[in-house]
Amino acid sequence: AKKHKVTVVGSGNWGSTIAKIVAENTAEHPALFERDVQMWVFEEEVVIPQDSHLTAAVRADAKPQKLTEIINTYHENVKYLPNIRLPDNVVANPSVVDAVRDSTILVFNLPHQFIGNVCKQIDGKILPYARGISCIKGVNVSDDGISLFSEWIGDALGIYCGSLSGANLASEIALEKWSETTIAYDPPPVDHSQNPSSRDRSPNGLATDGREISPSDAHAQDIRHRDARGQASKTKLTPLPADYPPLDHNTLSALFHRPYFHVSTVTDVAGVSLSGALKNIVALAAGFVDGRGWGDNAKAAIMRLGLMEMVQFGKEFFGETVHTATFTEESAGVADLITSCSGGRNFRCAKLAVERGVPVEEVEKSELNGQKLQGTTTAKEVNSFLKARGLESKYPLFTAVDGILAGKHKVDDIPRLVARAAHDY
Ligand code: NAD
Ligand code: 13P
Repeated sequence: AKKHKVTVVGSGNWGSTIAKIVAENTAEHPALFERDVQMWVFEEEVVIPQDSHLTAAVRADAKPQKLTEIINTYHENVKYLPNIRLPDNVVANPSVVDAVRDSTILVFNLPHQFIGNVCKQIDGKILPYARGISCIKGVNVSDDGISLFSEWIGDALGIYCGSLSGANLASEIALEKWSETTIAYDPPPVDHSQNPSSRDRSPNGLATDGREISPSDAHAQDIRHRDARGQASKTKLTPLPADYPPLDHNTLSALFHRPYFHVSTVTDVAGVSLSGALKNIVALAAGFVDGRGWGDNAKAAIMRLGLMEMVQFGKEFFGETVHTATFTEESAGVADLITSCSGGRNFRCAKLAVERGVPVEEVEKSELNGQKLQGTTTAKEVNSFLKARGLESKYPLFTAVDGILAGKHKVDDIPRLVARAAHDY
């Protein structure tokens, strides 16, 4: 029997942490997975920081070195996840095409602004029956509308892609402090005409024992995708050969669940992806009011309004599939909102920006050492999507955040801006 080969596409703060988790699990489940985990690294030259816990002899070398070589030699991503030992079976690879070759599981984990370029490079270079999991928090907005990165990756590469998102500050998880996450994975529906024994199958395309269903013949299945209005578009999905372990909720749990990282599996890909993206806009607002010195009541008001706009957005644009419970009951929803509004980078940078009276982008550059905020671009992208449809007034908090980022509004305007439309809810 074959085993799944896993590649993590991305190696930032969260990408490196997820590679650590996945590599711990591939080593523990040799029947399911190949031991080595490929991790694609956007190559750069890095000087090992003087405050690194690596030995003095290592630190003494002040020459810039390739980040992949540092990771493969010292088993540490000294730039994006310093002072955390990565398992020896994480293999840093500077070539994305080489890193994804022959992998059946592709874990996409990089800032959302870079995914388009990466997909272009690997299109046609992956196994046709590979499956993806997107850990990206963002939405893809174009003139045609809005789409989830899970769906967008699936369409771009002709594969099925689910989503992982939760209350997951990477710095805490890397230290193995307990947290929860949500994995949404919703394979295509069963083609009953090709699968006579349909009694074993549930409507979401999983067998009743949670296994992904392969068609009984070699024909490709349709992947269910939704456009901005929740309408289905179709891509052909190549079935996973039968000699691989099924790629289902159980296998995904084996790959991601750790004693310190508890996985809940659901089928609401839209709800999980959207809440991860939209909460970043809310976290910026929380940072703005905190930086203004307004305290916990104001921050709680922001979280309440933000959660309502997140649910409303999901229902309005992905209504056929999104479940309100994903926002209110899953780690990907309200829990991520709370942790992001407490210690997330979007929150911290927005707070510092108000305290210093400078743009958020300036704080991002000076404080994050190359890490990227997702909320600033998401706020702009979501706003341009809403504005084009004349819907800004229905989303007063999202609109206020974009207005503040653009210098059109001040933090002091938030209560007036959100109150104006409050009776509409
Ligand atoms: P990060 O913020 O650490 O970003 C830095 C990464 O971007 C580095 O790997 C860098 O090499 C890469 N990069 C820079 N320029 C690039 C380019 N031109 N092309 C390709 N890559 C380039 O990234 P992260 O924290 O790993 O975040 C990845 C995703 O995970 C984001 O969508 C984020 O919202 C989400 N996320 C992050 C956290 C967290 O706590 N960090 C937690 C949950 C989810
Ligand atoms: P930030 O990108 O704002 O740090 O949020 C991290 C996160 O998504 C925690 O779940």
